[in-house]
Amino acid sequence: MKSNPNMSLNQYLEKQIQEIRAEVGDKKVLLGISGGVDSTVVAKILHLAIKDQLTCLFINNGLLRLNEEKLVLERFEKYGIKVDYLDASKTFLDSLKGVTNPEEKRKIIGKVFIDCFKAKAKSLGKEYQYLAQGTIYTDVLESKGDKLIKSHHNVGGLPEELGFKLIEPVRELYKDEVRALGKRMGLDNELLLRQPFPGPGLGVRVMGEITEEKLKMAKISDAIFREEIKKAKLDKVIWQYFTVVLDTKSTGVADGKRNYNYVIALRSVVSTDAQKTEAYPIPYAILNKIVERIVLETKCSRVVYDISSKPPGTIEWE
Ligand code: XMP
Repeated sequence: MKSNPNMSLNQYLEKQIQEIRAEVGDKKVLLGISGGVDSTVVAKILHLAIKDQLTCLFINNGLLRLNEEKLVLERFEKYGIKVDYLDASKTFLDSLKGVTNPEEKRKIIGKVFIDCFKAKAKSLGKEYQYLAQGTIYTDVLESKGDKLIKSHHNVGGLPEELGFKLIEPVRELYKDEVRALGKRMGLDNELLLRQPFPGPGLGVRVMGEITEEKLKMAKISDAIFREEIKKAKLDKVIWQYFTVVLDTKSTGVADGKRNYNYVIALRSVVSTDAQKTEAYPIPYAILNKIVERIVLETKCSRVVYDISSKPPGTIEWE
């Protein structure tokens, strides 16, 4: 880990727990959870340290994967960690109407998230003096001023503005260390080994304006891609794989008729740290099955396969 390369993960965990207890005392902590590995690991560390002094806030931004909200709520119930759930899908999608610029989309998603979070935090009262975040070391690196490539909304001005003190127990860790720590704390493999998912969610995987139609195509195609990759036992091999709904329509044929509809791209990359990646070559027979299902079930006109490395191509398309 960044601060002390000789420290074991057990020692790191113990140190975090002690520091959190000493800092928080009998006050309360609010944590925004996304359902991903980082925030779930932070939730578990905090729950070990301060039990029910922790409240997790789960905001549904309408840009989650198919049935994701249900899965997240069930998982936290199993862990016995309190969750406050806010379905803000409509607010997010209304704010994104007509917006096509990727950075603007990210900024709106970040801002609406902050507005929802603020409103909720205020309603919870003054005993919540701490805000925990699942920021990891890569987020810190990629968000440094002049090197900004894309805005990552979990390193923002939120805590200062709200008068919160910040707790970031995995800020020093790389992704593989966060996963290893989660494993040590008994979190499910299903969660720990899942691929990273960006904060702005499917919002950066629907090119151009986010419409209900494109979003639905993104959800269905992503679910099909994940299902088929799991069936092919490649889900632990590929670092990240997802679909992108393009803002381009092309002509195809469906049920013997002209089908002028959106194009969907498949992206599948291998990496150890998301800084440099290569495309993962999915075997042709599996690709064929995936494409067939996506065309049939989303009614898109065609599917293309992105084999760009990073650099020059970032992992996400926006
Ligand atoms: P890029 O597209 O920059 O992505 O090559 C690198 C890794 O970061 C994820 N990613 C994000 N994660 N908020 C996040 O929490 C974001 O705004 C964001 N943008 C990209 C991406 O999925 C990949 O794993």
